[in-house]
Amino acid sequence: MYRRLSVLLAGAALPLALISAPAQASHPAIQLGSVLPAPTEVHPSNTTFRLDSHTVIEAPRSARNVADQLAKALRPATGYRLPVVDRAPHGAPAISLETGHAGARLGSEGYQLDVRKSGVSIRANANAGLFHGVQTLRQLLPAAIDASRRQHADWTVAGGQIVDVPRFGFRGAFLDEARHFHTPGEIKRYIDDISRFKINSLHLHLADDQGWRIQIDSWPKLTKISGGAGTGVDGVGGGYLTKAQYKDIVRYAADRYVTIIPEIDMPGHVNAAQVAYPELTCDGVAPEPRTDTDVGYSSLCIGKEITYKFVEDVIRELAAITPGPYLHIGGDEAHATTPADYVTFQQRVLPLVKKYGKTAYGWNEISRAPAATKAVAQYWSTDTSNADVAAAVANGMKVVMSPANKAYLDMKYDRNTVLGLSWAGFIEVRTAYDWDPGTLVTGVPESAVLGVEAPLWSETLRDIGDIEFMAFPRLPAIAELGWSSADDHDWESFRARLGAYGPRWVQQGVDFYRSPQIDWAS
Ligand code: ACM
Repeated sequence: MYRRLSVLLAGAALPLALISAPAQASHPAIQLGSVLPAPTEVHPSNTTFRLDSHTVIEAPRSARNVADQLAKALRPATGYRLPVVDRAPHGAPAISLETGHAGARLGSEGYQLDVRKSGVSIRANANAGLFHGVQTLRQLLPAAIDASRRQHADWTVAGGQIVDVPRFGFRGAFLDEARHFHTPGEIKRYIDDISRFKINSLHLHLADDQGWRIQIDSWPKLTKISGGAGTGVDGVGGGYLTKAQYKDIVRYAADRYVTIIPEIDMPGHVNAAQVAYPELTCDGVAPEPRTDTDVGYSSLCIGKEITYKFVEDVIRELAAITPGPYLHIGGDEAHATTPADYVTFQQRVLPLVKKYGKTAYGWNEISRAPAATKAVAQYWSTDTSNADVAAAVANGMKVVMSPANKAYLDMKYDRNTVLGLSWAGFIEVRTAYDWDPGTLVTGVPESAVLGVEAPLWSETLRDIGDIEFMAFPRLPAIAELGWSSADDHDWESFRARLGAYGPRWVQQGVDFYRSPQIDWAS
């Protein structure tokens, strides 16, 4: 693929000495506010903290998980021991994590970071806030901190205070497992990537026309027939997550304060299910397996009772392995379902999600069904008004904003982008950044918006390198829309912070798109 080739060549052209050159001691510390997403309040002081071989990480037992992750993140590049202790020895330079009584303003995800000469403290009401504070601290250290081998850098952090709280409680990423299957290892790497930007949910699209990607015990042929090799787009790849693998991903995500949201798309996008179980079609005849990228041709049989047995079994089994509050039932592009059948189907299925203790989440078409007022709709339309959505919102429906012409990370950056699609237009970094989830859609006021999600469909994306190239640098734009205050929205500021972030992705081995809109630091 062209993309890979050019990056490999660019990498090879860099003299090795330059990559591993020690940072100059005279480099000023990174400015306190130079963080993605932009923090709520930044109060610089004229002191600094220097991480050194004596530094300890202090945390209560209850925050050990976050402290251990911080130590693991800082040890390779510094080469320091950075022991994690309950209480730092008197006078020892420490990074202290503290939970509880951090103030109501910080809520469950906010944090306060104080950098003094003697040490750094991160305070929060809950571990999620500590984790987000840790991500900020990582960005305040030189980019070399992300190197996997020891660097001789000056690990100085600018002094002062950051008080940081999210604008929205829902800040999501999305991965399409159906069109091309991505392995548990790739999903975990993406979780690592996104959680650096305070993204707190990952929606996994687990079934579509091409393949079925999650073990369902009561319908075993779903994965046996439609989850194997050759079920990816163009017959490339395939696979599925066993329940054990899914649960392991859920745990891995939870350790990073990311909630997994599973999606089974229906009543359309079901060809793979019908290949495995022809009784799910109206005529009982098995359709051909399909690995092309057409949409809108398949539908569950709305009038057959077995349809609802199938749907309930799948929802029950998925709910049982999903601790998070949401279960996504798709609902998009059901062009092979009549409008009346669509509503009939949703009126039965939306309450089934509730029956198994979850809140139904679906693409914005679900708003056509009256039962959707208790659900969450994912707004993927490119229109700035939608009568069904506005009416459902007036009756209580909540919305997550994913407008395809701004938030879809699988759209090409420009006409030269080799990967991705362009049906919703080209999305350069500024297009991804310059919109407001609280005002974009008429009849969807900020009070109805839970947050944002950045979908990444994988018709053209085969592996984690492809995923990262499309996600970065646009994912931080969506993350900032979700986290940072609307008052702080500022393209020039974002552009400068993004440009400064580039060397971190280089250190992490993330092959990102070097948008010409950004002055990338080298
Ligand atoms: C979608 O992009 N079909 C939700």
